[in-house]
Amino acid sequence: LTRGRPAGRHAHLYTIADVHRAACRALPRSISDYIDGGADDEISVAANKRAFQELRWLPAALVPADSIDTSTSLAGEDWSMPVGLAPTGYTRMIHPAGEIAVSAAAAAAAAPYVLSTVATTTIEDVTVATRAPWSQLYVMRDRALTDDLIRRALDAGSPVLEIAIDTAVAGNRVRDRRNGLVIPPRMTPRTILGIAVKPRYWMGMLAGESIDFAQVKASDTAGSLPGGSIADITSGFDAALDDAEIARIRALWPRTLLLKGPLGPQDAARVRDLGVDGVHLSNHGGRQLDRAVAPIDLVAPVREAIGPDALVLVDSGVRSGGDIAFAIALGADAAFIGRPYLWALAAGGQEGVERVLAILKAELARTMALVGTTSIRSLKERGPQLIAQRR
Ligand code: FNR
Repeated sequence: LTRGRPAGRHAHLYTIADVHRAACRALPRSISDYIDGGADDEISVAANKRAFQELRWLPAALVPADSIDTSTSLAGEDWSMPVGLAPTGYTRMIHPAGEIAVSAAAAAAAAPYVLSTVATTTIEDVTVATRAPWSQLYVMRDRALTDDLIRRALDAGSPVLEIAIDTAVAGNRVRDRRNGLVIPPRMTPRTILGIAVKPRYWMGMLAGESIDFAQVKASDTAGSLPGGSIADITSGFDAALDDAEIARIRALWPRTLLLKGPLGPQDAARVRDLGVDGVHLSNHGGRQLDRAVAPIDLVAPVREAIGPDALVLVDSGVRSGGDIAFAIALGADAAFIGRPYLWALAAGGQEGVERVLAILKAELARTMALVGTTSIRSLKERGPQLIAQRR
C-alpha cells in the first residue's frame, strides 16, 4: 500500500499546503498568526497567491524532456535551482534551532538564504555553523549601527546585501496586535495556558532558551535592537531612507547590492543609476503596504526596463515549483520563499526545510518537463512563448 511513497519522517508532506497544515498543528496560535498574518485586511496576502494562480501555460510541443536541469547561477555562484529563502525575522521564536537550521537546510539543498537584520542568531554564528548567508539590511536611524551591520556582513563573507525599502513604518499587522505579540514572547497567563495546548512547542523553546529575553536580545543580528511589538522594533528603522543613503551604502558595499521592495519599472531603472545591481521584487508577503501590487506582476515590466544583466528576484506568494517556473518564464532570475520555509521549520526543523526545498525542486523539474523546456536558461529565453494570455 505504501509503495511509491517517499521515505523519511516528512513523507506525508507532499505539497506546501500540507506543510502549512503541519505547522498550524505544531505552533501556538500567536506564532502561526505572526507567520501567516499580513497588513490590514490581508488583501495582498491573498492577491499574491491569486496572481500566480491566474497564470496559464502554453506548453511547447514535442520537445525532448528526458533530461531536466534545474541548476542556475546567481550573483556569481552556482545553485541547484533558482529558489532562495527570503529574510525573515525572529526565527528562533518559531523553532529553537532557528536560523542555523534554515541555513544548514539551504546549504544542503544549494539554495541561497538571506539573513534578516532582525534575525535571532548573529551572522557570525550562522557563518561558523554553516556558510555565509546573504544579508538583508534594515537601514537604521542610528547610522553607526547601520554601518556596523554592513561591516559585519562584509567581514562574515556575505556575498549579497539586500536593502529593504518597504519598511518606513511597520505594516498594520492586526493579528499580532490582537494577540498582544511582543518579541521576545512574554510569559502571560495566556501563554501558560498555551503550554497545555502545545506542550512540544513550549518544551522546545524552553530547552533551546529561545524565549529567554536576555538570550534572544544578546543574539540578534544587530546585538542592540529593542524588544517589544513589531511597531516598536520598526521605529528604530530609518523612515527617511532616500537615494542619497542608497548611494552612500553603495560606496560601503563592494559586492552585489539589491533593493528589496515593490519597485515598478521606472523606479527599478532609476535605482540602477544609483549603482545597485538589481532588485528583489517583494511586497513583504503582504505584511507592509496592503494592496501593494503583486510582485509577480512586476517581473516582466521591470525586466524590460532594466535589461538582461541586472539581477531580478521575486517573492510574495510563491507556493509551488510551478510558481517558480512562471517567475523565471516572466524574466526573473530566481524566486524566493518566506512563509513556506518557516512552516517547514515549525513542522520539522532543518529536515522540514530540506523537505520543502525538495518538494519545490521536484515540482519545478516536473513543470519544466511538461511545458517542454530542459534548462533554466531555456525556460527564461522561451518564457514569453510558454505563457498563455491571461483570461
Ligand atoms: C518576513 N519578511 C521579512 N523581510 C525582510 O526584508 N526582513 C525581515 O526581517 C522579514 N521578516 C519576515 C518575517 C516573517 C514571519 C515573514 C512571513 C516575512 C518578508 C520576506 O522576506 C518575504 O518578502 C515574504 O515572506 C515573501 O512572501 P511569502 O513567501 O511569505 O508569501
